[in-house]
Amino acid sequence: MRIGFIGDIVGRPGRGMVRRFLPQLRESERLDFVVANYENASHGFGLTEKSAHELFRAGIDVMTGGNHTWDKKEIKGLLESLPLLRPANYPDGVPGRGVRIFETGGERLGVVNLMGHFAMPMVDNPFIAANRIVDVLEAEGVRNILIDMHAEATSEKRALLMMLRERVSAIFGTHTHVGTDDLVIDKGCAYVTDVGLTGCRDNVIGMDAKVPIERFLTGLPGRFEVPDRCKGILQMVVVEISEGRAAEAYKIRLYDEGERETVLRARVEA
Ligand code: FE2
Repeated sequence: MRIGFIGDIVGRPGRGMVRRFLPQLRESERLDFVVANYENASHGFGLTEKSAHELFRAGIDVMTGGNHTWDKKEIKGLLESLPLLRPANYPDGVPGRGVRIFETGGERLGVVNLMGHFAMPMVDNPFIAANRIVDVLEAEGVRNILIDMHAEATSEKRALLMMLRERVSAIFGTHTHVGTDDLVIDKGCAYVTDVGLTGCRDNVIGMDAKVPIERFLTGLPGRFEVPDRCKGILQMVVVEISEGRAAEAYKIRLYDEGERETVLRARVEA
């Protein structure tokens, strides 16, 4: 199966890039399934029902969350009614779920959402949660497993790869909005520390640069805002998985001027 993974979609510019380019990407990359992270999709904070439907209509199959999952009140209902995940390592009793199993191309795919610890809300240990979840998926015979590790610290993401590379098919990092160049297939697991944002590319992590500059100059608080106009980018990792193991992975970028480039091809490490 061929899966496209889009990282953090930031605000209206990010949604616009997905709407404009995802239908053609599904065709050109022969994608069976598309995963994306929704946590900054509406005004940069959380997800509204309207934005959720807009993104699913554009061709996304499931969306993952993170620390901003809860920023819009309506998310609690949406987590029940739509194919949306929130990090699996929130404590028991928190609405929604962090794992879903899908059927695609006659095969099952387990999609898992986890959140790191460093500079994040206090949640359960993601490594212990990950082992438990993979135990359950394996017991159910699910061989294709993809994880969105939503974390600030590169070390937490790398450690998850080292721990699970022989048991899961792909681990893709989100949250920092800045893509890293370490795409690899390691013992059959495709991995990149961060996929990078889809949204404005000419600002600060997809937000209007004025606010962060002012915050850094003065130390005073200020609320981040997504710019009305900007230069857009869509970043996607494509992975081909066969019998649970990643066979090929690459990353593409599309710019709102219509240019497209393949920026990374995964080195395959035995
Ligand atoms: Fe985040």
